[in-house]
Order: sequence, then structure tokens, then C-alpha cells
Amino acid sequence: MVCVGGLQFELEEVFTLNVITHYDKLIDDNNDPFRDPPPLRKYMDKWDGQVFIDSMRLSRTKKVLEIGIGTGRIAAKVAPLCVKLVGIDISPKTIKRAKENLSDFNNIEFVCANFSDYVFDETFDVIYSSLTMMHFEDKQQIIVKVNELLNENGIFCLSIDKNLNDYIDMSDYKLKIYPDNLDNISKYINLTEMNIINQFETDFAYIFICMK
Ligand SMILES: C[S@@+](CC[C@H](N)C(=O)[O-])C[C@H]1O[C@@H](n2cnc3c(N)ncnc32)[C@H](O)[C@@H]1O
Repeated sequence: MVCVGGLQFELEEVFTLNVITHYDKLIDDNNDPFRDPPPLRKYMDKWDGQVFIDSMRLSRTKKVLEIGIGTGRIAAKVAPLCVKLVGIDISPKTIKRAKENLSDFNNIEFVCANFSDYVFDETFDVIYSSLTMMHFEDKQQIIVKVNELLNENGIFCLSIDKNLNDYIDMSDYKLKIYPDNLDNISKYINLTEMNIINQFETDFAYIFICMK
């Protein structure tokens, strides 16, 4: 326990930031994977990369949703290959940065909201997400929602981090996360109308390719 202003806190509470504060702070610190030099961008590909994008089976007629668009690292590769891309992210500063980074594209719509409770007024041919699932505690609710938002024959590409830590440790604070369990994710997908059509791993992630 620690004492702050006469109040008692568990040490964990003091150092645990919420997800919006964490990602807004990364932007304040100019931590932006979109603007990384090529060697670092190549490193980030270890969670997804070209094989992940190829698995989306994109074409200029497809409407696409990215869950947790971040600053636009993957979206920059997807936008030229589809008719419309919607990117949702919970962090206002991250969405603002994504808009700046992706300003050359006129087919991207940005939504600043929590994917868990945001009500979309459209459905999608492709939904993808990388390095974001660990922020959702109720993973089954997220997968059920993806299934509802996906058109018939639509593709869902999900990259989940192999890292099983409960926290992202930033040394001066920690962010609570909910590590993804391969078997549970498979089970939740199989409970929906989606089928897993391919499953593979990259250096840092397990990838699910699903079709409805
Ligand atoms: C590690 S970043 C990954 C960004 C991007 N997918 C990439 O791989 O470059 C995770 C992103 O998910 C967003 N995020 C976390 N929880 C979210 C939620 N409930 N709804 C929407 N976005 C969320 C964060 O703000 C952050 O930008």
C-alpha cells in the first residue's frame, strides 16, 4: 500500500494507466510507428506484415474496417487496395495523428470511439485487427460483434500477440492488458457464423483468417 493525500492505494493502482491515457501519452512522446525508420517498421511487421495483408483478399470493391487503427501503420497499405476503409480507435490523439499520417488518402473514415460499444451504421467485407485484442477484457463480445458487422463471405483477419504478460510495463507506469489465449479465441470464433480458414504464426503473433 502507498499513501497519497491521506488516501491508501494499492501500489498497482497508482501505476496503472487506462488505455486512452497510455496511447495519448505515446503521441505526446512522438512514439508513432507510422513514422518509424525502415528497420523499426520491419520489426513491427513481425506482428503481421505482408502475409497478413495478402490474407484479407482485398479488391477495389471492398469495404474494410480496422479495429484499433493506431497511427495508420497497416491502414496505409490497405487503403490503396479497397474502396473504403473505416478506422476506429479509442485514443483521440492517436486518431488525430492517423488523420495527419493518412491525409493523402480520400477513402478513409476515422472514428474515435470504443469499438466495444460503438454502433456502426454499415457492415463490412473485410475486418482486421492487429496488436489490439489484448486491450479487450471480454473477447467473446468483440468476436460476436465482428461477426455481426461482417458481410456474407466476408473475411476477418486477427493478429493476437504471443506475449502473455498482464501489463505493458513502461517503467514509470503500467498498463493493464488481457492477454489472448489461442484456444479461447478459436472457441469464440467457432461459436459464430465464421469459420477459421487459415491459421498461422509470425515471429510475435498468432494469426487467424476467418470467413463468414
Ligand atoms: C498497439 S496499438 C496497435 C495499432 C495498430 N493496429 C498497429 O498495429 O499499428 C493498439 C491500438 O488500439 C487502440 N484501442 C485500444 N482499445 C481500444 C478500444 N476499446 N476501441 C478502439 N480502439 C482501441 C489503441 O488506442 C491503440 O491505438
